[in-house]
Amino acid sequence: MVGKSILIVDDNPASRIFLANHLRGKQFKVLEAPTGKEGLIMAWRDGPDLILFDPTLPDIVDREFIHKLRNNSRTSEIPLIALSTDPGPARREICLKAGVDEYLVKSSQAILALEGSLTRIFGAETPIEAVSKADKKDGLLILFLSAKGGTGTSSLCANLAMNIQQGQPEARVVVADLVLPIGSISQIVGDKGKLNLAMVTDLQSGQTNVEYFHKNLPTPELWQFQLLAGSPDPQHGNDIKGERIGQIVDTLCSAYDFIILDIGRSLSRISLPLIQKADLIILIVSTDQSTIQLTKTVWDYLQTQGVDSQKIYAILNRAVGLEGLTKAQAEEIIGLPIKTTLPYMGSNFALANNLNQPITIKYPTDTASIIFKGTAEDMVKLARHLRAR
Ligand SMILES: Nc1ncnc2c1ncn2[C@@H]1O[C@H](COP(=O)(O)OP(=O)(O)O)[C@@H](O)[C@H]1O
Ligand SMILES: [Mg+2]
Repeated sequence: MVGKSILIVDDNPASRIFLANHLRGKQFKVLEAPTGKEGLIMAWRDGPDLILFDPTLPDIVDREFIHKLRNNSRTSEIPLIALSTDPGPARREICLKAGVDEYLVKSSQAILALEGSLTRIFGAETPIEAVSKADKKDGLLILFLSAKGGTGTSSLCANLAMNIQQGQPEARVVVADLVLPIGSISQIVGDKGKLNLAMVTDLQSGQTNVEYFHKNLPTPELWQFQLLAGSPDPQHGNDIKGERIGQIVDTLCSAYDFIILDIGRSLSRISLPLIQKADLIILIVSTDQSTIQLTKTVWDYLQTQGVDSQKIYAILNRAVGLEGLTKAQAEEIIGLPIKTTLPYMGSNFALANNLNQPITIKYPTDTASIIFKGTAEDMVKLARHLRAR
């Protein structure tokens, strides 16, 4: 459908130029007429594939303009869209009766409505549809990763996701536990385990569409986000087909505003493409020598895979108490700035986890709660900023 021609008839130059530029940007051939009379001549002479006109033309009344097109064999079949300055019902009625296919009113929604009309008229395979699909932005993909188990990746993933959801209650947030062969977020948030990654990957890809996730993923009490729980045991985890995970994440990306993935310490063929696709990579680090060294190895590897350092958001989590390296030493070894440091919370963290409560609810005045809130805000800001580049 690339190259279909559209004639714009509009006496308002600003409006006409705006529409013309917009449609040219969508690969249409555009003809412009500043008056009704010129519009008719061009329509009869050039036979465009569609005519878009403002029926409030000063030189010819709307009904007459439409009749002249409809009663001429060269233009009788051309789709006609009125994009009107007049929001009133009377003119709409007149134009529809006279034979326009669609009557739209100029407003902030007009371009969107117009694109819908063009898709209807030219069919699904128009460049408009391709472009508006690309225009419809996927949600922000935020991925949690660590170089070593036990650094608090899953706990931080759940708690930061909860704070992201709380910061924008109108957004749809999903957390997917992709740690194989066995997940742990459902234990942290107290999910009943009715649905998990193994069950979802067993379904045909056609079944696991946007509506499926909106409708079926549970929302654990107190946590507010929707959860795709991880594999419940190694047997199921090892049976999961890798390509299904990619498809499922793609669907989640079009279904949610924030897609928060826990991939644990995995750098597999399944997780690497997700890391490369992510808007933000939350790298959880603890202060012990071995974790820091492993983190450096992981980061060196990710760089060879084309991962941009701007996307790495390193969090130092003092999951194992105060011993170990300082933040500056850790930064020096890894070669990345540490954006946030979470204090050691002693047994309080495990206690909140065991009660399936978010830290910010169980210990609202604790320093860690304040840090969780601020970090969640900062992450969202950075992810949005990187997306807008
Ligand atoms: N800042 C912290 N203070 C105290 N305990 C923590 C802290 N962060 C994590 N933990 C504890 O560390 C353990 C491992 O956390 P988990 O989130 O399962 O790590 P991972 O997913 O990296 O394996 C849990 O018992 C958790 O409660
Ligand atoms: Mg984990």
